[in-house]
Amino acid sequence: MPDNEKYEKVSLPFFGIPKILPYVKSYRPEILIMIVTGLLGSFIDVLIPLYQRYALNHFVGDRTLDTLPWFILIYVLSILVTGVGNYINGYLAQKLESSINRDLRGMAFKHLQTLSFAYYNQNSVGYIHSRVMSDTSRIGILFSWSLVEGSWQLSYLVGAIVVMLIVNAKLALLVLLVLPLIAVFFSIFQSRLIQTNREVREINSRITGNFNEGITGARTIKTLAVEERIGRDFTDETGKMLRTTVKAARYRGLFASTISLASSLALAIVLWKGGVLAAEDVGTFSLFMSYATGMMEPVRWMIDCISDFITTQVNIERLTKLLETKSDVTDSEEVVRIYGDAFEPKKENWEEIRGDIEFKDVSFRYPDGEEMVLEHFDMKIPFGSNIAIVGETGAGKSTLVNLICRFYEPTAGQVLIDGKDARERSQLWLHSALGYVLQTPHLFSGSVRENLLYGNPNAGEEDIERALKLVSADEVVAKLEKGLETDVGEDGSLLSTGEKQLLSFARAILADPKILVLDEATSSVDTITEQKIQAAIDTIIKGRTSVMIAHRLSTVRNADCILVVKGGKIVEQGRHEELLALNGYYKELYTRQYEDEATANVLG
Ligand SMILES: Nc1ncnc2c1ncn2[C@@H]1O[C@H](COP(=O)(O)OP(=O)(O)OP(=O)(O)O)[C@@H](O)[C@H]1O
Ligand SMILES: [Mg+2]
Repeated sequence: MPDNEKYEKVSLPFFGIPKILPYVKSYRPEILIMIVTGLLGSFIDVLIPLYQRYALNHFVGDRTLDTLPWFILIYVLSILVTGVGNYINGYLAQKLESSINRDLRGMAFKHLQTLSFAYYNQNSVGYIHSRVMSDTSRIGILFSWSLVEGSWQLSYLVGAIVVMLIVNAKLALLVLLVLPLIAVFFSIFQSRLIQTNREVREINSRITGNFNEGITGARTIKTLAVEERIGRDFTDETGKMLRTTVKAARYRGLFASTISLASSLALAIVLWKGGVLAAEDVGTFSLFMSYATGMMEPVRWMIDCISDFITTQVNIERLTKLLETKSDVTDSEEVVRIYGDAFEPKKENWEEIRGDIEFKDVSFRYPDGEEMVLEHFDMKIPFGSNIAIVGETGAGKSTLVNLICRFYEPTAGQVLIDGKDARERSQLWLHSALGYVLQTPHLFSGSVRENLLYGNPNAGEEDIERALKLVSADEVVAKLEKGLETDVGEDGSLLSTGEKQLLSFARAILADPKILVLDEATSSVDTITEQKIQAAIDTIIKGRTSVMIAHRLSTVRNADCILVVKGGKIVEQGRHEELLALNGYYKELYTRQYEDEATANVLG
């Protein structure tokens, strides 16, 4: 389990509630109404024993019914007010819970869109999922149901104590003696309750994590034939969950019985000391009986809540941490002022992009990486040129394009786009002019058409057909039962990787980008298709700057310039023939690959 899935101790002032207040402050009126109706409801709850006292003493004791109609009227009115209060509270609490969930989830999701690749490298999908779904849900409950219940229960407790003290201070103090007793029990159980609560949530996180891995890694699990082990891990965790939940239930049960015990004790005190009272003031006697039992419910609730509040602090801490996480790549205020941000771009201020790229003395280390991947790296890619980057695995090729696309920013030095530091314009400005076909293609769930339209929502039928034809993806679509309307499944799982690659290629072309980045864009298609795409690439790249990464060196022969990268440095550069003539590293790579391919051909 990753460390960040541990429900470690956090102590925030006032259970962390002030931290989340800025995010829920727009609901102040609703929260206020809920508190007021809660107070009103509990006020009437406190009144009911007083009514009973009056009824007993007046109607039964004095044997007169003169005020009965008024009594009934007030009683019915009170019940009505409680009913209406209950309705308002239930309605508002539900509305508030759902609204807070919607807001926090929306905010967290929107914020996640602004975070850089580095954040996603450092945090697992399961972890992010828990922040957006379960943390928000717990916070939603805290600010709705717990708040209603809390204001109601606490004010009932205070009201009952005050009335008891006014009516009969001596008896009241005797009844209140049970409270310190409960406090003693509480201090015994509290830490265990909190601890088991924490354990339950920790195990729950682990179960979610295991579940995620089990589903996302389903294929790998099958191919490694480790179903039994993975299944056992999962049932181990669910078994632990069962044991811990039972343990928590035992503590809760034990504690609930001590509360009942305290409640009975309070009643016993009332019966013992108030018994004498019953003969002359049966109303007060009944009042004490009601309060003595009634005040235990708020006490039980408070105790339940305290352990919940303490564990909810972790949820608050984590969610606010996510919301406060700053992206490694951000647009400065000045840039946002001119160019807008990802959600509200000011396209009227965007200058036309040409597509000149230059690396000036760039050094780069991944935010979580230990070693420098690039050191004092210089490179110039003039507008309209067709550059290929080659080199062995791990040489830093994808890193270079990550920097061109500004998915990361240089640790030192500058990446210039059209002669200006990339940081002087907005990320969206650059990204809108980019077409990027990834080493690992990604499609969204939905139809083929919907996926293509992500490239350009305004593309017409002809544009789509042209783009598909250009990269030979029309053949893929023709094979599909429903053509463009075929559902591709989550991440295009119903298609082969090569097919996904071709469709993402078509999608990039539909966007008509000024800069086209192809990172092993044809690594998963057969040689015939690759040749077709190669021909297409020659047409597509006209009028654009293109950067192509390829393992198969035969595919980069036509590039204007080939950069040979080794250990984060350009060791050779030039056209294919020039590089071969150098008789250096490129030649070595080329010959090795040529020999490998020849061997493969011989072996059939
Ligand atoms: N997110 C990351 N965090 C830390 N280090 C990374 C990260 N991504 C890559 N690296 C490191 O940076 C170096 C260059 O990686 P890069 O992905 O650029 O290689 P590449 O040339 O594209 O390799 P390949 O041909 O396998 O795609 C590698 O040593 C790798 O371990
Ligand atoms: Mg790569």
